[in-house]
Amino acid sequence: MKTCGKIVILTGAGVSAESGLGTFRDTDGLWANTRIEEVATPQAFARDPAKVHAFYNMRRRAAAAARPNAAHFALARLQEHWPAPVILITQNVDGLHAAAGGAALQMHGALSGALCAECGHRWSAPVEMTPRDLCPRCGAAATRPDIVWFGEMPLHMAEIEAHLGDCMLFVAIGTSGAVYPAAGFGAGVARRGIETLEINAAATDVSAIFDRHIIGRASQVVPAWVAQLLDRDPA
Ligand code: OAD
Repeated sequence: MKTCGKIVILTGAGVSAESGLGTFRDTDGLWANTRIEEVATPQAFARDPAKVHAFYNMRRRAAAAARPNAAHFALARLQEHWPAPVILITQNVDGLHAAAGGAALQMHGALSGALCAECGHRWSAPVEMTPRDLCPRCGAAATRPDIVWFGEMPLHMAEIEAHLGDCMLFVAIGTSGAVYPAAGFGAGVARRGIETLEINAAATDVSAIFDRHIIGRASQVVPAWVAQLLDRDPA
């Protein structure tokens, strides 16, 4: 591709699968053994904060032990070398795009963050959070993971909508297209005539709306796609 406009890339759990972090909806995924209603809603946290903290403590430990894979590094390389902006939006909360040197809008929050439900203060989460943790600013025992739960509004939406409105190419990588609003980004840009590409290990429920598809494991196909864009051999 020789036209050099803004590229918007949405990533999901599939981009981190080869870093050893589980996806959600694959057969061995996180939601196969855990009910969303018990760990990933504000109601679940109000009912049983210790259980919700235990779930995110487990995921925080796994993310801290994980390393970025070739797909994360390739996307960071694209951000560095593409002559126009490359906006990386991720639903992932693992921080692996940043660990690879990339800059991502983390629309579903971050495992590395703590949030006070009382005053809105944000700070770095300890590895193990508990319902007894106090907000360092207001002192309330209302500390929660800085994670967007089902029923809550994702972060950075105004900025994301603006980027979706003026990009040249929209790419969805390793996401099943099951969770809105992210699942609707592809259809939204397609309606405006913007080119769309889906990169995934398998077809998804929203594959039909994309102009082009690359099927394969992210660690292999993303570096190859980036190299092709940058017109050079995969690093
Ligand atoms: P899903 O688990 O729903 O989908 C993962 C996608 O990655 C699937 O389409 C797989 O085919 C694909 N995949 C798996 N391994 C891959 C690999 N090695 N290379 C390329 N693709 C691969 O995860 P998400 O779409 O990210 O939200 O899920 C979206 C949201 O649902 C998450 O952010 C989370 C979850 O509930 C909240 O918790 C709010």
